[in-house]
Amino acid sequence: MKKIAVLGYGVVGSGVVELFYKNKEKIEKNTGTELDVKYILDLREFPGDPYADKVVHDISVILNDPEVCYVAECMGGVNPAFQFVSSCLEAGKSVSTSNKQLVAEKGDVLLQIAKKNDCNFFFEASVGGAIPIIRPLHTCLAGNDISAAAGILNGTTNFILEKMFCDKMGFEEALKLAQELGYAEKDPSADVDGADACRKVCILASLIFGKHVYPESVYTKGIRDITLEDVELAESMGCAVKLIGSTKRLEDGRILSAVMPMAVPEDSLISHVDGVFNAVMVWGDGFDKTMFYGRGAGKLPTASAVLGDIIDCVKAEHTVTSHEWILSDNTDFIAGMESFCAPRMYRTAVSGADVYADAAKSAGIEVEKTAEGGCIVSCCNNKVSDSFVKALEALGVKVFAEIPVLAD
Ligand code: HSE
Repeated sequence: MKKIAVLGYGVVGSGVVELFYKNKEKIEKNTGTELDVKYILDLREFPGDPYADKVVHDISVILNDPEVCYVAECMGGVNPAFQFVSSCLEAGKSVSTSNKQLVAEKGDVLLQIAKKNDCNFFFEASVGGAIPIIRPLHTCLAGNDISAAAGILNGTTNFILEKMFCDKMGFEEALKLAQELGYAEKDPSADVDGADACRKVCILASLIFGKHVYPESVYTKGIRDITLEDVELAESMGCAVKLIGSTKRLEDGRILSAVMPMAVPEDSLISHVDGVFNAVMVWGDGFDKTMFYGRGAGKLPTASAVLGDIIDCVKAEHTVTSHEWILSDNTDFIAGMESFCAPRMYRTAVSGADVYADAAKSAGIEVEKTAEGGCIVSCCNNKVSDSFVKALEALGVKVFAEIPVLAD
């Protein structure tokens, strides 16, 4: 019999234990191995919990137990998760994690430690919760040259934006509801300011392009400034505002990664992804494009991905099948936002096709759509966008907001 240890008995960790015991027989049949959860590491006690007798408080109990071959890390944060996961890998125990901050900041180092110690470091749950995205990129789509990925990577902000769109709630009201329903944390900044989506973009970019992309290299803007007026204007132009995380290889080979609110046209599948669901579009030379969709957060959806990784660890034995990317010692391969090009939606004080056309002409772009209180212009970079805004202001039109449009 081989034993599993779960680090962290919060929402995800308890979900891993619950799902494991629910499907234990099936999992053992699938892996051809008898398995059990031996330890649950947490600072707290859980009196009355059916697995309270498995709770330990000292990582060395797990590290020194040769029966424990697999570890599910569900603690979150970098410290002490990094020390614990490194020590487990150094002891030859394969690790599956749901911790996106850990992978985004330390994935390169942990993958190397795993390889050196003939074990695996898997992180399917770190992007898109239950959605299989990491493994398909690494295996099913591995015969392609993947050029880009973009999508909705944060369920909380997607829920808030949907409430603004469908129920005409203001940002604060929608955030309050998300907190009441347990989607958003008391301190919602990691979700609403984009850090959570940024970490997921780092993981996708590192995996796709083979070199670690750190959070500092991803332009990140959250949804705090998005108003009901912005959402309503987007709707009148046939778009929904979504927080989009993206990474793409530019023609010069550099990588441009970003998180920002974007107006998504209704003919894009992504515009119809609502609530706490996530969706990721991936572009590659052989398969053209494909979309991955599912529950991006929550106890059992995330546990599903963690357990899938544990099952893969069991099947892999000591063969290293985890993905790898190299450490980046410089940022020469990273492009800045001056290389970002997209159509843009502007919300303005006064409307008028003529005034938009005049300003667009002087900036060298086209007006693609107009509506009461705004317009959408053709693809342009930030410099051109600034000159369009200046031209509008010179014509006496105040610009309240500029939101890039997601072009397919
Ligand atoms: N806070 C995250 C979200 C949880 O809302 O998507 C899953 O990473």
